[in-house]
Amino acid sequence: MNTNRKKGMFLCFMGILIMLHACGEKNTSKDTQEVLTLQKAFSNDFLIGVAINRQLIEERDSLGVQLLIKEFNAISPENEMKWMNIHPQPDSFYFDISDKYVALGENNDMFTLGHTLVWHSQLADYMAQTTDSTLMADYLKDHINTIVNRYKGKIDAWDVVNEALNEDGTLRESVFLKVLGEDYIETAFQLAASADPDVKLLYNDYNLCNPEKREGVVRLVKRLQEKGIKIDGVGMQGHWGLTQPSLAEIEKSIKAYSDLGVKVSITELDITVLPNPWDLEGAEVSQNFENSEKMNPYPDELPDSVKIQLAQRYKDIFKIFLKHKDNMDRVTFWGINDGNTWLNNWPIRGRSNYPLLFDREYLPKKAYDSVLALKAN
Ligand code: G3I
Repeated sequence: MNTNRKKGMFLCFMGILIMLHACGEKNTSKDTQEVLTLQKAFSNDFLIGVAINRQLIEERDSLGVQLLIKEFNAISPENEMKWMNIHPQPDSFYFDISDKYVALGENNDMFTLGHTLVWHSQLADYMAQTTDSTLMADYLKDHINTIVNRYKGKIDAWDVVNEALNEDGTLRESVFLKVLGEDYIETAFQLAASADPDVKLLYNDYNLCNPEKREGVVRLVKRLQEKGIKIDGVGMQGHWGLTQPSLAEIEKSIKAYSDLGVKVSITELDITVLPNPWDLEGAEVSQNFENSEKMNPYPDELPDSVKIQLAQRYKDIFKIFLKHKDNMDRVTFWGINDGNTWLNNWPIRGRSNYPLLFDREYLPKKAYDSVLALKAN
């Protein structure tokens, strides 16, 4: 064998060794590669939250709890902190479930929301029936002081006032407005701020991409700011559809609110895929309609074509969120999976809706993949 040939064989052998080593390394790194989850994927962008129901809070839904801990780093209580549940009588509070909720958040190091201090819906009867302004002011003060104080340092942010506006941006004729006058919103924020100066305070509402309502929120936030009252954020609920609101209006709203110097959170995200009776928008819980085959077109499974549409819609809206991540704190989904979304029962009871990223078996859907793909290298 001449020297050149030997040299050639040696180089060839070394080349093969290097290739094998590189392949080995590749395999190893693939084996140990971290599994991407929602909370990890968006960890440099915003929190990824989810609303949890009583079953989850009490850890009776073990698959749900596993999914919660794996995918999410923020929680909201779907119903358990609403006035009728937490303060059912003037002089009695019910903290059993909300204590468990807060403990779940603490134990898992999650950003923990309080939802919600002042809302006309799911109110206790004694509040709804009060017509005396002094008495109502006392109830309100006691409600906010007691609850915010109890969870001081444990609840990270409160939806202080929920859904106080009409679609045209004027103030809703709620019992609070009728009895206390329009200052009730300022009072609520002041009470919350003095009970816990460090907690974040939000105004939360639906249809916040509608121009008139958007202007109403801008006026409301400015009014608080002009009076030196603390408000940290606007919560855009995000009960949206496959085509509405438009991406342009979503973006305009995020900009309009962040231009005020407050953070934007998407607080109750879900995307209905079902027909909308009377082209209903938003989340006005008092509306209800009859069920029918036409209104419940996918009782067993969502067709592929709609799964693809939903995935594209989620991708498009998350692109906007990422574009504005510097002004956004959090994106929270309203429910852990399609099986327990409120949209199976609203605005028509007993339908099968598919608005979230996980299906009824807690498995990730195409929509989940499309959202994660935005962050995959
Ligand atoms: O707790 C009772 C239970 O005892 C009874 O057996 C059952 C029979 O229907 O009803 C249970 O109460 C229901 C409750 O959810 C808990 O499941 C109420 O009827 C039902 O009206 C209530 O709906 C909630 C709705 O708010 C009204 O409070 C939804 O779960 C909840 O997702 C929804 O969340 C709201 C946000 O708080 C504010 N933004 C809009 C959003 C959607 O409406």
